[in-house]
Amino acid sequence: MTVITPTDIENAAAQAVAAPQDFEVRPFDAPVGAEVVGLDISKPINAADFARLHRAHLDHHVVVFRDQRVSPEDHVAFSRRFGPLQIHVLHQFQLQGHPEVLIVSNIKENGEPIGLGDAGVYWHSDLSYKETPSLGSLLHAQELPSEGGDTLFADQHLAWETLPPALQQRILPLKAEHSYLAKYEELRAKNPWRPKLSQQQVDQVAPAVHPIVRTHPETGRKALFVSEHFTTRIVGLPQDESDALLAELFAHSVQPAFVYRHEWKPHDLVFWDNRSLMHLAAGTPDHLRRKLFRTTIEGDRVF
Ligand code: OGA
Ligand code: MN
Repeated sequence: MTVITPTDIENAAAQAVAAPQDFEVRPFDAPVGAEVVGLDISKPINAADFARLHRAHLDHHVVVFRDQRVSPEDHVAFSRRFGPLQIHVLHQFQLQGHPEVLIVSNIKENGEPIGLGDAGVYWHSDLSYKETPSLGSLLHAQELPSEGGDTLFADQHLAWETLPPALQQRILPLKAEHSYLAKYEELRAKNPWRPKLSQQQVDQVAPAVHPIVRTHPETGRKALFVSEHFTTRIVGLPQDESDALLAELFAHSVQPAFVYRHEWKPHDLVFWDNRSLMHLAAGTPDHLRRKLFRTTIEGDRVF
């Protein structure tokens, strides 16, 4: 639940009348993505500017705000303008004093991981295992490796639109189960620093069932909504048929023609739409440090 405080109301009032900021939205030469240059998310953003950003997010699905030398408070406040924030189940990796911020990092201090080191090693949409999956996530670069560490984004509207019509008809009525636990133990076996989940944490991530083909609540466009990370089975199909169909959909959904590869620059703040895209961490060499802060905005029930 989001509590609206008097400060929020004052901020909203200040933002409504703020001077415009002089920024550009430049689409990438890629299936999805645009960069925003010249905007400072820590400064007041008036209603017209905010509407431009919102439009860019819906049109391009991933928006890269360049050069954001901003605090976690600014990151959280900007994120909250798009909706209530979700708190990640791995509370071990919350930023101190900011439960809404998840630390994504391969860094270990005194042998202890400071963040989630293997976030996104399989294609996924954030929090698809919740009844109300994420609208979008904002990832802010803190420390970047000299090589590697890219993030890939795949357009799931294109994935849907390019399926053969017979397959579209077949999957349109189907639903699938998504579970946070689907790959958890496998990842923990590879990365023993991953915390063992408490019963309370397990209870927080009960699986959810969603349509395989979702409708974007703001644009009305259909998108494929299954992932190799979290989708466990198609409801009502024998397991072997379900496995085969999911494998076919996974392979189709992340073709290079649907993908934008983000090469991080210092102070990038990347805001993607989890209703339109899947994403993947391309990987960072173990000896190089990488640290980012993530906020996650709650979305609607899937339909
Ligand atoms: C995430 C995620 C990918 C990356 O933070 O949700 O999947 O490249 N991250 O860090
Ligand atoms: Mn993710």
